[in-house]
Amino acid sequence: MASPVISLAPLQGVTTRVFRNAYAKRFGGVDYAIAPYLISVPTPDPRGDHFKELFPEYNARMPVVPQILSNDAAGFVATASALEALGYVEVNWNLGCPYPMVTRKRRGAGLLPHPDVVRAFLEEACGRIRLELSIKLRLGLADSAEILGLMPILNDYPLRSVILHPRVGAQLYEGSVDLDAFAAAASLSTRELAYNGDIVDEASYATIRARFPSVSEFMLGRGVVSDPFLPARIKGLGLPDDPKATIKAFHDDVYFSYRETLSGRTHALDKMKELWSYLGASFARSEDGLKEIRKAASFEAYEKAVRMAFSDDTAQQ
Ligand SMILES: Cc1cc2nc3c(=O)[nH]c(=O)nc-3n(C[C@H](O)[C@H](O)[C@H](O)COP(=O)(O)O)c2cc1C
Repeated sequence: MASPVISLAPLQGVTTRVFRNAYAKRFGGVDYAIAPYLISVPTPDPRGDHFKELFPEYNARMPVVPQILSNDAAGFVATASALEALGYVEVNWNLGCPYPMVTRKRRGAGLLPHPDVVRAFLEEACGRIRLELSIKLRLGLADSAEILGLMPILNDYPLRSVILHPRVGAQLYEGSVDLDAFAAAASLSTRELAYNGDIVDEASYATIRARFPSVSEFMLGRGVVSDPFLPARIKGLGLPDDPKATIKAFHDDVYFSYRETLSGRTHALDKMKELWSYLGASFARSEDGLKEIRKAASFEAYEKAVRMAFSDDTAQQ
């Protein structure tokens, strides 16, 4: 089978530019990233703070597709134009965000029960943006049958790709992915779908690949943050002789970049603690180190805890 395309999923607050740059510097196997979403704005300034995470000078290491959360086609078009001015060639529309604060406003997965609104949005947006458009969506807000009404609409528009995470919004990230529903959606799609959800190791990747042999693009989120070597292993790329040293170097890149770019000790430490909540899975017996990391209230305490976490054990790879 041909080598798959692997994209890095957007994880708001986690797969930041700092993370993406450090990742691209230290690991292989990811072809491109979709950045965590921006909210559409009616009169955007491309060099304004709203777009800072996406300034091209901060994103030179890894190809990036920005993502927009919006139910307002005019604002979406304006925001996409600002991204075009920054040099981007594709933009992704978020139809998957499951949080009630978002869905209540008919954004993200909140749009999935409203196929007419989706069609009207695409009609206006596709007619007016010059960038390529891709969509990332779920099966539905509460009902996985919603996807069946949406696929014929998506077929009508020139989308670069459609990435389907086979859960409904109401599940958030709980329960299992519904592969039968993914198959049903794929059978109604005139284009190949990209798959996203719960690929956490080579075995889960192999299961999805075997079930959907025609899918060639896979988006990985939590699995990559927990195990940064996973994309390289899936693609059969070489791994470093000392994987733990690579993880440590990656950690240090992220840590010092956050210290430099975020104001306030707490902010930088919180970011690192969130990263560790995933990355902790790369270590087999470092519970004490991880506990100290979670407790750390100063850079000194944090660094000591990290030394403990890295010296307790060897990474599993
Ligand atoms: C903390 C967190 C933040 C997320 N932020 C976004 C986001 O900004 N845009 C988006 O489309 N999906 C977002 N997602 C969903 C992921 O992109 C992805 O669809 C989901 O985690 C399933 O893939 P995975 O099992 O490979 O992680 C987020 C998920 C998590 C856990």
